[in-house]
Amino acid sequence: MNTSDLAPGLVLGEGVEIGEDVHIGANVVIHDGVVMGDGCEIHDQAVLGKRPRLGARSTAPRDDPGALVLEPGSAVCTGAIVFAGARICRGAVVGDYGAVREGAVVGRDSSLGRFTAVGRHVTLGARVRIQNSCLIAPHVVLEDEVTLAGNIVITEDETVGRHGPGYVKPTTVLRRRCRIGASVTLLPGIEIGEEAFVGAGSLVTRDVPARTLVMGSPARVVRELSDEELTGR
Ligand SMILES: CC(C)(COP(=O)(O)OP(=O)(O)OC[C@H]1O[C@@H](n2cnc3c(N)ncnc32)[C@H](O)[C@@H]1OP(=O)(O)O)[C@@H](O)C(=O)NCCC(=O)NCCS
Repeated sequence: MNTSDLAPGLVLGEGVEIGEDVHIGANVVIHDGVVMGDGCEIHDQAVLGKRPRLGARSTAPRDDPGALVLEPGSAVCTGAIVFAGARICRGAVVGDYGAVREGAVVGRDSSLGRFTAVGRHVTLGARVRIQNSCLIAPHVVLEDEVTLAGNIVITEDETVGRHGPGYVKPTTVLRRRCRIGASVTLLPGIEIGEEAFVGAGSLVTRDVPARTLVMGSPARVVRELSDEELTGR
């Protein structure tokens, strides 16, 4: 790692590729091998391409996660950390103090709010909107145009860490254009159907059918959504 005069306080690793018209704020750290397309914006104190420092008992893979790729026109805001092996697609924005772990993909024109953390190998489709302070567990899939309000927790491990080595964590999928209200928790392995709506404060313990409104703890189906209530974006 070396200091660089491209921007004030910039620390630059080996083999970094930086496109044209890139804006880099103050005190940014760019680790080895990061690939950054034209027109990217990197705000003050962001860290790009960090390798994870796993705990002694972590079951996360320890192989090389590969390069972080920032596609053209993407942005990483103040204090955010985007790990090696992630991909931030064209026009996507990682909000202030956000974190995006190895192997995660943030789809085209998607945006992550302040303090939102995206786990390993999460896949976010195009135009996904996630507000502040959400926690997305590893391997979760959000299809195109899903919206998450603030303070949502999507979990992955039924046993909260007490499983044996053979335990396969269930996959959680949020189908296209579904919407999740503020402060919702999703238990592991849930499928939220296309255009479904989960009311604020719900605890979701079962799959949610497409186009239905659910709410409560545990969340129950209240009714089907009318055409006027669909997002229609
Ligand atoms: C679910 C929601 C869409 C309301 O749906 P609705 O069908 O219009 O419901 P109503 O407001 O007519 O309320 C119907 C009943 O459900 C209850 N209710 C409403 N929202 C609820 C919720 N999130 N959880 C539990 N009960 C709820 C109401 O108290 C009411 O109960 P009552 O009949 O005993 O008085 C709305 O409450 C909600 O959660 N919106 C999401 C807000 C949000 O998180 N925004 C984030 C972006 S800032």
